[in-house]
Amino acid sequence: MRKKIIAGNWKMNKLPNEAIDFIDKLIPLVKNTENELVLCVPYTDLFYSLLTAQKTNIKIGAQNMHFEEKGAYTGEVAPSMLKSIGVEYVIIGHSERRQYFNETDESVNKKVKAAFLNSLKPIVCVGETLEQREKGKTEEIITTQTTLALEGLTPEQVKNVIIAYEPIWAIGTGKTATSEDANNSIKAIRDKICQIYGQNVSESVIIQYGGSVKSTNCKELFTMPDIDGGLVGGASLDPEEFAKIVNYDK
Ligand code: PGA
Repeated sequence: MRKKIIAGNWKMNKLPNEAIDFIDKLIPLVKNTENELVLCVPYTDLFYSLLTAQKTNIKIGAQNMHFEEKGAYTGEVAPSMLKSIGVEYVIIGHSERRQYFNETDESVNKKVKAAFLNSLKPIVCVGETLEQREKGKTEEIITTQTTLALEGLTPEQVKNVIIAYEPIWAIGTGKTATSEDANNSIKAIRDKICQIYGQNVSESVIIQYGGSVKSTNCKELFTMPDIDGGLVGGASLDPEEFAKIVNYDK
């Protein structure tokens, strides 16, 4: 049985004092969950969040990183820098980074490899635009993105990748894929991984759904056979709402 991972993606929201306050409120609300729980926070909140979440079941992740270890890359953060303060997860290739910051399948692949070199768990985002969906290209797009993101990894590493299937038209729009649609897309990703890396790997890899997940639709999504939890944006900004999502199975 694959575990469920529920990850919050705060994007560019919350000052350190707001992060501390949020986590203090969240701790008692989620202490009994068996689901893995991650908060991906802005760089400036990482250290405060790690301290506040210490000795709890809340894991902390970053939302991006560079693939190089060090050097003249003004404004960037290296994987080892994240690791050194205790960060465990990192989102890679979110569609907003692909859209606004020239993230490519190639840089995503380099970052995934760099994450493993530094024992960080990558949450790799893939997803189609509305136009691609309407042209019937969803499966082609998301399986290609997945293949390129994982290129050159060992089967053991692929087992430990987390993939977030996030249809771009569903992000921040209030439009969610139906649970059947989301499950079909995720199944297509799993089948592709099976083709390349074998069944043992494809059955182990965690694949989340993301895109307007909230407390009112999470149960339907997360109980589908191929959906292993979610990457949650807007609804992860409020501790009560986010706790309801984490506790969808209670
Ligand atoms: P949303 O964002 O839940 O606000 O749609 C999801 C994401 O971008 O990861």
